[in-house]
Amino acid sequence: MSTVRSQHIGFNLTPHETLLEGLERTGHEVEYQCRAGYCGLCRVRLLDGEVSYLEQPLAFVAADEILPCCCVPKSDIRVDCELRPELRDWQGQEDMFPVQQPLFAEELPVPTPAVAMKKARRKKSSKLPKRTYTLSLF
Ligand code: FES
Repeated sequence: MSTVRSQHIGFNLTPHETLLEGLERTGHEVEYQCRAGYCGLCRVRLLDGEVSYLEQPLAFVAADEILPCCCVPKSDIRVDCELRPELRDWQGQEDMFPVQQPLFAEELPVPTPAVAMKKARRKKSSKLPKRTYTLSLF
């Protein structure tokens, strides 16, 4: 399995995933339109390694560029691609999405008047005398 390295992180593609899908999944900023090798909008610079195209693309690319929408790495590769701005601060950390606060730290929501009335009605009905049934077999 080939490793993909960008300017910020390294990752592996999952089976049947194109390089573009892998870059998107890992939070990279890549433009695209056709996702089939026609428009050339997704082009990125290949800094190291080799890729193979699933189908021969029609868009023009320079000698050091690739179209990630329709290729997969043949070897470990390094691409000139950045993470989305909101993810760049996480650069170098093991977990890209660490838990920032305890899950149940938020205060409980204050009930709306409608919910409070429903609760009051439920309380009232529970104060009514309960019917008791005795079952006698003899
Ligand atoms: S998205 Fe059009 S060539 Fe890649």
